Amino acid sequence: MAQAGKQDAIALLKQDHRTVEDLFEQFEKASGEGRKQKIAQEICLELSVHATIEEEIFYPACEGKIEEDLLKEAYVEHDGAKILIAQILEGDGQSDDFFDAKVKVLQEQIEHHVEEEEKRLEGMFSQARAAGLDMDALGEQLAARKVELVETFKSTGVPKPTLTTMDAAI
Ligand SMILES: [Fe+2]
Ligand SMILES: [Fe+2]
Repeated sequence: MAQAGKQDAIALLKQDHRTVEDLFEQFEKASGEGRKQKIAQEICLELSVHATIEEEIFYPACEGKIEEDLLKEAYVEHDGAKILIAQILEGDGQSDDFFDAKVKVLQEQIEHHVEEEEKRLEGMFSQARAAGLDMDALGEQLAARKVELVETFKSTGVPKPTLTTMDAAI
């Protein structure tokens, strides 16, 4: 069994995807604004940490090794998600009539994005693996940065996301 912190990069990123999928399912089943609000905050935390470690470590490592269009689209998809994340972090579930809809649309966007990363053969992870990236070394870097970010975000709150590919529209 893989030890925590000893996963290769793809196993770590895929596990993050499963964690977020599970949280979205919990959100769908949850009743009560307080509970939904709490799960939505967890989703935003997980996704913010995940997008940050991908953009700081994994995506740059893919630069020049995988299809350029796919990588560029991934950054734009992250930014699309960040706009909704910023909205959800601001909303309190009670005064925002669109709160549930925003979480639902975020879920749909993430499902699409995860598919682009995980798709067999032509997906980003498959291309990165085929290009011979050192997944063990990257896995260690991702895990270490993730620990730092989770600690920071849990103590100071999830910061308003920074867009990478477009001027702030929020
Ligand atoms: Fe991802
Ligand atoms: Fe991603």
